Amino acid sequence: MTLSLPSRADATIVKPLSPRLLTPREGNAEMRWEAMAGQGHVVPTDRFFVRNHTRSPALDVDTWRLRLFGTGLRESPTRDHPVEFDYGDLRAMPAEETTALLECAGNGRRFFASQQAHTAPGVPWGLGAVGVARWRGVRLSTVLRHAGLTDDAVDVQPEGLDQDFVTDGANLGRVRRPIPIGKALDDVLLAYEMNGETLPVDHGFPVRVVVPHWIGISSIKWVGPIEVSTTPLLSPWSTRFYRMFGPGHPADGRLVTTPLVKSAFELPWDARVPSGVEVLLRGRSWSGDGPIRTVDISTDGTTWQPADLDPDDEGGAWQRWTALWRPPRPGRWTLRARATDVTGASQPDQARPNTLGYLFDGVVRHPVTVD
Ligand code: MTE
Repeated sequence: MTLSLPSRADATIVKPLSPRLLTPREGNAEMRWEAMAGQGHVVPTDRFFVRNHTRSPALDVDTWRLRLFGTGLRESPTRDHPVEFDYGDLRAMPAEETTALLECAGNGRRFFASQQAHTAPGVPWGLGAVGVARWRGVRLSTVLRHAGLTDDAVDVQPEGLDQDFVTDGANLGRVRRPIPIGKALDDVLLAYEMNGETLPVDHGFPVRVVVPHWIGISSIKWVGPIEVSTTPLLSPWSTRFYRMFGPGHPADGRLVTTPLVKSAFELPWDARVPSGVEVLLRGRSWSGDGPIRTVDISTDGTTWQPADLDPDDEGGAWQRWTALWRPPRPGRWTLRARATDVTGASQPDQARPNTLGYLFDGVVRHPVTVD
């Protein structure tokens, strides 16, 4: 079975991009937050964001193989003679399901420019490069043990089977990024289902990595080769991209791993709401470091009121909340939401600038017109 290629010649994404659900961003697709209003804990697949370095490939599941190699496996199999598993092998192993959040490290990048006068290159995401899904598959640890993992392995590096990534005239090879063995053995999944269905092409069919609580680049889609090594592994996605560079950061940058605390209203950007009535504001907050404990809302920029947290989401991948607002008069208003997670980490007024515009965790000023 082979799934289809993107339908338009210039398209990089296979699934329909309904303008009600998704906003195209330079070959990627951002979820529209108003498309989440009233939705459950997970993001339906039709509106789940897509981030592709190149384009979604059409892989044939019958010839697809997971190929493990490297010094961290018994007898050090090589890339050319790896330990192989086919799709049926994975399906026959014990399955697990996890509800996990995926967020692109650049989510919110455009607010560095619009709120902090600090432009950064890269996809100009609003807040919609994030989603929560139910992922089903096999634990990476199960596959590593079947492949003969040794005690002295330190890093595991999955590679995608999409095209090589070429930038500034340099071919950087396949999208790949190392995962330390401790994390790899902890909660990482090789997923073949998303939200109860076969993993869609754009999200990594036939199999993708899902690294809960780590930024999206770790969750390699269309995984094929996996290197397991007794010495640390590097890739441009750990040394050059997805690092915090610039003033206040180490000279060789700081690796981006865990998403910071963020909040979004389930409203269109520049929403319109009627005057003279009470409006139920809805939104969600999340953090890579654990559950959200409190969320505060401001409609005037100076006073804050606690939002009501939805008890169904307690301990979940993100936290839905609501707050009532009666706009005192028509006009332009700015809504703000600020969350605090279980570690006490909260959203600052200003995110820490960094050259590539990662991890924008500042309080976002959401414009609303009351009329
Ligand atoms: N894996 C491969 N092979 N190629 C990619 O371009 N993009 C990464 C990651 N895995 C990518 C990849 C990035 S930057 C993110 S944020 C997530 O996939 C996005 O996953 P999604 O498109 O399913 O939302």
